Formats: sequence, C-alpha cells, structure tokens
Amino acid sequence: MSRVPQVIVVDPDRERAADVVKLLESIGIEVPSSCGYGVEAFTLAMSMEPDLVLMRVEEPLVRPIQTLTRLHDGMPDVPVVVFSTQANLRLMRQALVSGASDYLQEPLKPEEVEETIFTVLERKEREQMRRRGELEEPAPQGTIITVFGAKGGIGKTTVASNLAIALAREAHQSVALVDMDTRFGDVAITMDIPVERSIADLARNLDNVDRETLRDYLVTHESGVDILPAPTRPSDWRNLNAGHIRDVVDVLAQTHDFVILDTPGTFNEIVAAAIEVGSMILLVTTLDMASIKDTVLALEMLQERFGDDEERIKVVLNRSGIDTGVREDDVEATLDTKLWWRIPNDDEVVKAAQLGRPIVMGRPDSKASVALLDMACALAGVTRKKPARRSGFSLSMLLRPFTFMRKTA
Ligand SMILES: Nc1ncnc2c1ncn2[C@@H]1O[C@H](COP(=O)(O)OP(=O)(O)OP(=O)(O)O)[C@@H](O)[C@H]1O
Ligand SMILES: [Mg+2]
Repeated sequence: MSRVPQVIVVDPDRERAADVVKLLESIGIEVPSSCGYGVEAFTLAMSMEPDLVLMRVEEPLVRPIQTLTRLHDGMPDVPVVVFSTQANLRLMRQALVSGASDYLQEPLKPEEVEETIFTVLERKEREQMRRRGELEEPAPQGTIITVFGAKGGIGKTTVASNLAIALAREAHQSVALVDMDTRFGDVAITMDIPVERSIADLARNLDNVDRETLRDYLVTHESGVDILPAPTRPSDWRNLNAGHIRDVVDVLAQTHDFVILDTPGTFNEIVAAAIEVGSMILLVTTLDMASIKDTVLALEMLQERFGDDEERIKVVLNRSGIDTGVREDDVEATLDTKLWWRIPNDDEVVKAAQLGRPIVMGRPDSKASVALLDMACALAGVTRKKPARRSGFSLSMLLRPFTFMRKTA
C-alpha cells in the first residue's frame, strides 16, 4: 500500500533546517524530526527508521562526510540525499563515494526535491524487490527512438532511415528500424528492400517468437540495419493495438542497441503507442508556418504527457537553411524550446531517395549526411571519425623514405 514517505532532515543550522522542513511539508512529505550532524543524526535515524535522510553537506567536509558514512554503514537501506550551496565536483564525488544516493544544489526547488526523493525511493524499492526475488531478471534494453512529426512530408522517414543506417555504420550499433506509418509505409521503398513479412505478422505470432525466429520477420539491409516493414495492405493495421506495438518494440529492444520507429504524419492509436514506448522522441519540424504551428501543438501534447523532459523530447529542424521567410530563432521562440539538431536542406537527399539509396550511404559527404552522421554519433555517445582529407600531397609522403629503415648490420 502506498503511503507518505517519512524524511528526516540533517542540518546543524536550525533555522535553515526549519526552511527545508517547511519545503518538504509543502510537497506533502512527512518530516518527523530534524537534527545536527554526528551522534545526534545517527541516534535519531536509528530510532526513527525514516524512509530517507535529506542532509546538508558544506565545506569543511570532515563532519558531514563522517556523518554520512556512519549513516550509510548503520542503515544501508535508507537512502541519503545530500544538498549544498556549493556545486563543486570534489564535494559531489566525496558525497557519492560516502554513500549518498543523489545530490541537490541550493536553493532547493520543491519540484526538483519531490522528483529526486521519489526517484531515489523507487530505485531503492526496486533494488530490495530484486534482492527478494520479486522482480524478473532485468532484460537488456536498447534505446527506442520515436521519430514523430505533426505533419506529412517533413522528412520523418528520411530522418528515421538515415539515422538507423548512420547508427549502424558510423557508430557500430545494432539497429532495428520499424515502419509504423499506418498509411503508406515508405521505409521499404526508401531502403529498397522486399516486403515479405511485416509488423502485423510479427505481432500476430509474437507468442511463438524467440531471438532466433525473430530474424525471420526482419529484413537485413546492406547497411546492417534490421528492418521491420509496414504491412503492404494498410487494412492489416486494423488488427493491431497499442499492446501489440509495446510487445513488438520490447522484443526488438532486447536484441538491438537502438530501435528506431518511423511514424506517419497523422495521429492514431498506433502512433500514440509508438510515442509512449519511446525512450526518446525526435519531433521533426521544418521552417514553414504550417509545420511550426502543428509542432507547437504536438510539443504541448508531448509535454502534457511527459512533463518538460528535455532529455526525452528533442526537436529536430529538417531542411534548415531553406528560405521560407521564417528565421530559426523565431522557431525556437515560438516553440519556447531549443532546436536540438539541424539537418540542412540538401537536394542530394531527394536524388538519393529517388535512387533508393539513402543519402548517408549514397553521398556520405553531403551536408545533410554530415548532420545525420553527427546526430547518430551523439546519440550513441561516440566521437565521429572525420573522413581523412584527400589531397595530392602529404607530409607523411615526404617522410615515408625514413619511416621504414633497413636494419643495418
Ligand atoms: N534535408 C532535406 N533536404 C531536402 N529534401 C529533403 C530533406 N529531408 C527530406 N527531404 C525530401 O522531402 C520529401 C519528404 O520526405 P519524407 O518522406 O522523409 O517525409 P515524411 O515526413 O516521412 O512524409 P510522410 O508524412 O508522408 O511519411 C522527400 O522527397 C525527401 O527526399
Ligand atoms: Mg514517412
């Protein structure tokens, strides 16, 4: 049964402690007591057995860190969150090494304190449940990226397919690309692959699918990306619901580092499910007024659902640099959000699409490719190796005669 967490505050300054207690009470957290460092903190924590300790840590660190270590040794299952007016790395590191579960910087903000306390408590609870064998063994989980946009024709499929290839080829990740376009399903055409089985077939047979048989439903593109195409008949989507989408994506995420979901320019139950499962949502927009207006609404919807989570929701401007009379900083101002990535407008994209060879493969040096390859590397957390510049002359050529020398007797 859920109940209000009990937190004790450790702060040697009574006045400041009273303010922290007030803040905690304002967010509905019970604070049975507060106390100073040392024996007082240890004795109180042992007798009250709180759910969490919120403790101030300031320089000089000896006393607070000693108290933290003692609390952690004595009650390893009670998380301690520390807070400080200082934000230096040494202090944070000392606190974490001594057993702190998280670190907050003053001035404390009620929402941040609430979020931190509940996240830490949930993590502890999961840990304890796992120890007691009440949770299933954790399965590996890849990152799910939902490429979404409020409008048709703004480059969602271009971004999804090229990003998938870039992650596979440039960042050496295993990648699944799922076509969730419930109307036209362009991924197969863009990637020039045959469609024998689709997401609808996989969803239907999911109970009988394991890691090996999963491969029968995927088409491996020459780039290494495993593609799960959309059904060739749009009516096949009718038999799929949000549960199917969750299950299919889940099984792919257990076997791939990244699962990329391409969505249509409309909103329906399938798209809602694709957004719901996304670890990250790339909201694609372009510089025209209609797209920006729809993106404002889409962003509002996403923020209503997930909160203002900048890590989860990233806006990608496609066809940047195109002259529509709308400036990029106006877009940021209208959306009240920074553009996370910009993909330049590039005629090579259209040419590459017509040839059925995505641009990051066909023209990896083009400006759109460079942006897409850089984006993939940023997502995978790797540094992109810039292609070596080709030139007729290099210093190493001059030095070559001296690089390998015969051993002389
Ligand atoms: N950065 C770019 N520069 C130039 N052309 C682009 C760029 N990105 C996409 N395009 C072109 O825009 C058109 C639409 O792209 P795409 O099919 O990826 O859009 P979409 O949002 O997936 O459309 P739909 O909603 O119909 O699925 C294509 O012809 C594509 O080649
Ligand atoms: Mg598309």
